This record gives sequence, C-alpha cells and structure tokens, in this order.
Amino acid sequence: MILPGGIGKVKKRSTFALSAFAAVVALASTQFGGVAKAEVDPDWKPKWTDDGKLVLPTGYREWVYLGSPLTPNGLNGGAAGFPEYHNVYMHPAAFKIYKETGEFPEGTILLKELQLTHEAQEEDGSRSEVSGRGYFPAAFNGIDISVKDSKKFADSQNWGYFNFGHHAPPYAESAGAAPTESCAQCHIDNAQKDMVFTKFYTILNTK
Ligand code: HEC
Repeated sequence: MILPGGIGKVKKRSTFALSAFAAVVALASTQFGGVAKAEVDPDWKPKWTDDGKLVLPTGYREWVYLGSPLTPNGLNGGAAGFPEYHNVYMHPAAFKIYKETGEFPEGTILLKELQLTHEAQEEDGSRSEVSGRGYFPAAFNGIDISVKDSKKFADSQNWGYFNFGHHAPPYAESAGAAPTESCAQCHIDNAQKDMVFTKFYTILNTK
C-alpha cells in the first residue's frame, strides 16, 4: 500500500499511530474498493487476457487525475450520450514520461470513469448546495479506456479504445477493442494531440 508522504516521521514517533492510520486507510480502501483498489500497480503497462482483451487496471483512482469534462443532460436536450462527469486518469509512470518528452509513451492508458451528478433540482440539471448552484459529483457509472500500442493498433493511428460498461460498478473485468468507427475515428478527426483531447487536461499542458 502506498501511504502519503510524511508518514515516515509518524512512524519514528509512534508505531501505534502508524498502524491506526494504516487501518483507517485500509478500511477506506475496502469501502471504496471492489474494482479500484487503493494500491497503484507499479507495473503500469496494459495487461491482456490470453484472447487479447484489455484487463481493467486496478488502483486507477489513485493515478494522476487529468480533469473532468461534464456534459449534463440538462444542457443536451435531456439526453446527453454521457451525462456524467468524465474523470480522466493516467498512470503516474506514463505521466512522468509525458512531462519529460511531451509524448504519450507506448503503453499509455487513459482511463475515463463516468460519475453521475447529484439529483437535479432545476431544469438544467443543476441543484443548490451551500457553496452555490451547480453540478455536484455522485455515483460512479462506467469506464472507457484508450491504450497506445503501435503494434496492436497500427490501423487506428496507434490507439485502441475499450468500453468496460456504462453502468454502476462492478465493471467488466476485461474488454475487447471497439471498432474504429465506434471510437477511434472521432478522436482521429477531432482531438488536439495524438488522438487525445489534451485541451481539457490542463495538468498535461502546465510546466
Ligand atoms: C463523437 C466523438 C467521440 C466518440 C465517438 C468517442 N469519443 Fe472518446 N472522447 C471524445 C471527446 C470530445 C473527449 C474529451 C471530452 C469529453 O470527455 O467530453 C473524449 C475523451 C475520451 C477519453 C479520455 C482521453 C482522451 O482521449 O481525451 C477516453 C479514454 C475516451 N474518450 C474513450 C472513448 C471510447 C472507448 C469510445 C468508444 C466507445 C469513444 N471514446 C468514442 C469524443 C468521442
């Protein structure tokens, strides 16, 4: 388990405090667990089943968080294709290489987890909280993934696209690549950089 920085200090002073803290972290990770375990797998390259499907990564909610485009129903005639927040994550190892080279390395996984908004109070889907009127994240509701692999996906400009379900967890454990026309083509035609919509991921564009 990866603990936040500074824990070393606590350990010197009190092992009891450390184990109590670790227990809380462990409890939290089982509570939110199921698919996304708190542990980040240091082996960041995609894993494939024997029959060539992509295995759903674990620990992705602990990866580098790139951003959350939002296309709510209330602003899309009541029927957005993806009415949720689109939380996008990238493994820290791939992120580091991107920051050093400005390129997505072979094996990059971009994982988009959909997250519903809290129940609407207004026609535009918004609601009011003490902070103001707006949209507020609620339940997780699906996963889409893109993988850069120039051998497997040479026919779609080196990226493959995968859908692990558009519903509440648990998600599919593995998924086959979607046909080019279902996913890759729109990314080829519209994305800013190497088929990725980098303009929404400010952290990628910041020194
Ligand atoms: C009509 C165009 C279109 C289609 C079709 C499409 N996407 Fe996307 N995709 C987008 C846009 C625009 C974004 C960024 C903004 C957003 O999420 O709303 C995006 C973002 C993503 C991201 C986050 C990383 C990135 O490239 O920005 C993943 C992963 C992704 N899509 C996977 C898929 C998968 C899997 C499919 C097919 C099942 C698919 N997409 C089909 C337009 C599309």
